[in-house]
Amino acid sequence: MAQEFKLKDIISLQLKNGEKKEVEVEGVEGGKVLLLKSQDKVHATSATCTHYGAPLVKGVLTPEGRLTCPWHGACFNVATGDVEDAPALDPISKFEVFERDGAVYVKTDEQTLKAGRRNLNLKCSSVNDEKVLVIGGGSGTLGAIEGLRGGGYKGKITVISKEGYQPIDRTKLSKALLADISKAAWRSKDFYKDASIEFVEDEAKSVDFSGKKVDTKSGKSYDYSKLVLATGGTPNFLPLEGLKGDLGNTFLLRTLPDAQNILKAVGDNGKKVVVIGSSFIGMEVGNCLAGMKNDVTVIGMEEEPMERVMGKKVGKIFRGLLEKNGVNFKMGASVEKATPSKSDSSKVGTVHLKDGTTLEADLVIEGVGVKPATEYLKDNSSVQLEKDGSLKTNEAFEVQGLKDVFAIGDIATYPYHGPGGNGTPVRIEHWNVAQNAGRSVANTINDPSSKPKPFIPVFWSALGSQLRYCGNTVNGYDDVVLQGDTEKPSFVAYYTSGDEVVAVASMMKDPYMTQSAELMRRGKMPGKKDLQNGKDILDIGLPSEIKM
Ligand SMILES: Cc1cc2nc3c(=O)[nH]c(=O)nc-3n(C[C@H](O)[C@H](O)[C@H](O)COP(=O)(O)OP(=O)(O)OC[C@H]3O[C@@H](n4cnc5c(N)ncnc54)[C@H](O)[C@@H]3O)c2cc1C
Ligand code: FES
Repeated sequence: MAQEFKLKDIISLQLKNGEKKEVEVEGVEGGKVLLLKSQDKVHATSATCTHYGAPLVKGVLTPEGRLTCPWHGACFNVATGDVEDAPALDPISKFEVFERDGAVYVKTDEQTLKAGRRNLNLKCSSVNDEKVLVIGGGSGTLGAIEGLRGGGYKGKITVISKEGYQPIDRTKLSKALLADISKAAWRSKDFYKDASIEFVEDEAKSVDFSGKKVDTKSGKSYDYSKLVLATGGTPNFLPLEGLKGDLGNTFLLRTLPDAQNILKAVGDNGKKVVVIGSSFIGMEVGNCLAGMKNDVTVIGMEEEPMERVMGKKVGKIFRGLLEKNGVNFKMGASVEKATPSKSDSSKVGTVHLKDGTTLEADLVIEGVGVKPATEYLKDNSSVQLEKDGSLKTNEAFEVQGLKDVFAIGDIATYPYHGPGGNGTPVRIEHWNVAQNAGRSVANTINDPSSKPKPFIPVFWSALGSQLRYCGNTVNGYDDVVLQGDTEKPSFVAYYTSGDEVVAVASMMKDPYMTQSAELMRRGKMPGKKDLQNGKDILDIGLPSEIKM
């Protein structure tokens, strides 16, 4: 039952517009609320982000009332608590707040206060004959189906996924080798059942775009009013002897069974692990396995890990962090092949580099990139796949040349309008991009007259310290302005093209990344020269106008 809870050490609701204050709740162990003022109104909300629990007081509050999380860019509407941008799924709670006799109170019940979130209720009992068919069961799908029902869609929603379980937090597979569906799944099966969202375990084999139906591997056929393609990426094996899936204990990492198989091969640890590829997935899983007391070597072709995207200076910081955790590196190296183990010829035993170096391996993990999972469209004459196998879309993620068909996430090449983008087609493999694209498609289906809401891509990684990244370098960058202490490391790296900042990376410098993303949306990011002259982006007031 709702009751009044007194807030500790606060006597009035006098806040300035844009101000945030985290306040303890008297009499409730660990109870906290966030007070904030936006557009002359004071709001009281739960204090932590519903994604991974970041303190929202450290986030960025915009003049129009968006509260952006400092960690991974989730965004909440402070008037309603609703999610506006990925990766959070549940809204934050809103509390009635008032001042009385020199004290401030919120009105709610203890359970709601402690929950720190409002469990999203998508319950839907009766549906009409419209039908959205979604192919895939990953991040894009999550955004689309929750956005559809959350936005009031009353038609049928069917998801065909070959993954075999409900959507999981894929990003934790490499950071923690999460292998348990009860911990990895975002939602229970009952959640989708209550929302009248049907999950079918099957694989799309072909699409008849003019007849509006999808055929599956099991021989079934599903029709649709609107089709959302969200089939993600298929990780590549290297086309090399012993590494193309022809030897046991060589692994890719995309699914829960992949993580389970790696953990099985690692057993009680103390194994020799060779990770091929020094990009995010390779670095994260290498770091995770080293932390579990395995002897890990990461092999990369560049001089420093992630050099192509992050640059040499920043890549070097990441290498240093992983080396501190015990990871060995062979950089500037090219793999030639792998040969079997002497004790079991069905399994990998040695990785050979082109320079003649050999590395013993109980197991090998290949993190060498993915290709868009669009095999089911390869021979379809109604659609032209891009060179990389992706689907070209417009800003609303409608597939070029097709009606009522959307493509989102890792298979979508869409026009990028962030800084330095100028509408250049880009395919971005980020969790938030897939989910925000799904939300955008849901909005378009729910309200066909609406204009797609642009978003700045946000990415994160765990590399011994938490990396946050926003923007994109689709048209390249020519310099990096690095500020802070790279030894600690506590830094912000601004990727610039001419004077324009096109991307920002940070470690231990919240909320620089989220402030940058909000400034980028508004076309207010300062230029390289300003930054070199000591401009601090946290001192810049955010205008309300969005300029993307
Ligand atoms: C290990 C790992 C860690 C990552 N960490 C991060 C991170 O920290 N931050 C970040 O921003 N990004 C991260 N990413 C990238 C991010 O997970 C992807 O960009 C995101 O999942 C893409 O979403 P999606 O919906 O396009 O595809 P996915 O999430 O891959 O989902 C695709 C779905 O489609 C299904 N499918 C494929 N083909 C068919 C078919 N023919 N029929 C039916 N179903 C099909 C698949 O089984 C899967 O369920 C990580 C990726 C991996 C693999
Ligand atoms: S904790 Fe807020 S977005 Fe991840």
